[in-house]
Amino acid sequence: MKLCVVIGSGKVGGNTEQLADAFIKGAQEAGHEAVKLHLGKLKIGPCLGCNACTKGIPCVQKDDFHLFAEAFSACDAVIWTTPLYFWGISAQLKALIDRLYSIGEKDPKGYYFLYPAKKCAMLITGADSDRHFWAFELVEHYYRRLVSYMRWTDLGFFTAGGCGGSAFPRCIEKTPHLQRAYEFGKQLR
Ligand SMILES: Cc1cc2nc3c(=O)[nH]c(=O)nc-3n(C[C@H](O)[C@H](O)[C@H](O)COP(=O)(O)O)c2cc1C
Repeated sequence: MKLCVVIGSGKVGGNTEQLADAFIKGAQEAGHEAVKLHLGKLKIGPCLGCNACTKGIPCVQKDDFHLFAEAFSACDAVIWTTPLYFWGISAQLKALIDRLYSIGEKDPKGYYFLYPAKKCAMLITGADSDRHFWAFELVEHYYRRLVSYMRWTDLGFFTAGGCGGSAFPRCIEKTPHLQRAYEFGKQLR
């Protein structure tokens, strides 16, 4: 498979990118190809809601979104990665996902938009452990709704709690998550 791996963190080399790299290593060893896009290195603005794209006009924002659109169009699976921010995904990743709106096509049979068929997974890091403060519950709900609306095939929702980075220093390398992410990548079908 061709994977488009989106690092939805502003931090280069942080917990989220390390997790994504471990996942990519496993996936590549299993024979998959990966293109990595780091949102901390790109400028992708939030959707302006102008709806030009729903009238057949290309997105009015001239930023780095086209780099994602090209990788997305060529991939079989899109892999979202993000730090947990206040029980949600990062603003960078949310902005990118909202911009998918500009590549949706009106469903002639109804109210919905149609998007290219893809496989999809999400990997998320957080300071809290998976069991505390319902850390990843809302993002998991959001992810499952998104995958279902897009009619994508779910490859998994992977959580990595207890990685520090807010009250304590970042420490993902001291957790089992990098090995787990490597194995997740390696078993990808
Ligand atoms: C603005 C902000 C909000 C955060 N909110 C949460 C949160 O709600 N729950 C949590 O467990 N960790 C939270 N964290 C910690 C990050 O999710 C965690 O450190 C993550 O692994 C950072 O990834 P990075 O190294 O790629 O930036 C927050 C961190 C920041 C900077």
